[in-house]
Amino acid sequence: VDGTTQSIYQLHTAAQRLYQHILLNTTSGEQALAYLHDKRQLTDDIIKQFGIGFVPEDNALLSYAKDQNISPEIMTASELFITNAQGDLRDRFSGRIVWPIKTERGQVVGFSGRALNQDNKIKYMNSPESPFFTKGKILYNFDLAKNHIRQTNTVMIFEGFMDVISADMAGKSVGVATMGTALTREHVQQLARVAQRILLVYDGDEAGQNAARRSINLIREHAKNMDIGVVHLPDNLDPDEVRIQRGLKVLQQVLEQNIQTPVEFLVNAARSGKNLSNQVQYLSFLQEVMDTLKLATPVEQDIQLTRIANEFGTEKQALQAQLKQSIKQKPH
Ligand code: CTP
Ligand code: MN
Ligand code: MN
Ligand code: MN
Ligand code: MN
Repeated sequence: VDGTTQSIYQLHTAAQRLYQHILLNTTSGEQALAYLHDKRQLTDDIIKQFGIGFVPEDNALLSYAKDQNISPEIMTASELFITNAQGDLRDRFSGRIVWPIKTERGQVVGFSGRALNQDNKIKYMNSPESPFFTKGKILYNFDLAKNHIRQTNTVMIFEGFMDVISADMAGKSVGVATMGTALTREHVQQLARVAQRILLVYDGDEAGQNAARRSINLIREHAKNMDIGVVHLPDNLDPDEVRIQRGLKVLQQVLEQNIQTPVEFLVNAARSGKNLSNQVQYLSFLQEVMDTLKLATPVEQDIQLTRIANEFGTEKQALQAQLKQSIKQKPH
């Protein structure tokens, strides 16, 4: 690490401390703190554990950096500031609650900010890509979760920061999240070094289901020996919403018990959006099922074909014959 990078790291560490201090101990943090307490049900201990802070509108970090005689070059390169229309530097995350993003070794290298008041602001904003902050390589909370992941040989992948934190509150300290982007090969390879089992815990909505499908394929491609599970969330909720609306105990149960195999998940997903009493749509559902089952074990094939035969009254032998046919048509 060269001198410039060292200075940028130091500025990030100072920013995280300053932003947390403002949130917890000053009047400019009061509104954000009330939001985290009341709307997100977070305690001060959790806020401290995850280093959450608030960036007021008064450019507190800019004043700090000037006091410390930090050079304009370092300030610009750190990406912690933006230049406004008048050409003046301002704190990038003004008006946002911020979660520090750290490397695997715990060095703060960026932030994700959630607008406190959403008037004309987009909800989430991350530090931009830079030589020291690469979304495709960083996993939120990997530094804190790593030992727990090793000990349990299991990692849980979530969509959001608040989902990781909610799981931790429910006693599952093995959560990581991608930075609002898809899982990458680099992420999978990092995780494969510390665990053999990956649980995908994506939001219960359609976007979350599509993300789970993509991640299953990616993990199968880049970590062949990885055991995959897909956690199904009830009623289109995300893990954080389960905690707030139904309580920690329910979230804990969901994370322990609502686990599907990839095959089970993919076969269930093939149903969505289809009217299966319509023959054309039923046949296209079956085609999707067969594509999934081609890669499944004989036992999993049997379980799924039995289910379908019972539910739709199609002869199991016919289903088996069709599976054989599709294996022949597109050899893998
Ligand atoms: N995210 C991000 N950058 C974006 C959008 C989303 O980093 N531009 C991340 C955030 O961590 C967010 C997660 O992706 O938590 C999932 O997004 P979404 O489900 O839309 O967030 P919500 O759960 O709606 O956010 P919140 O609970 O804070 O309202
Ligand atoms: Mn309060
Ligand atoms: Mn979502
Ligand atoms: Mn969500
Ligand atoms: Mn949420």
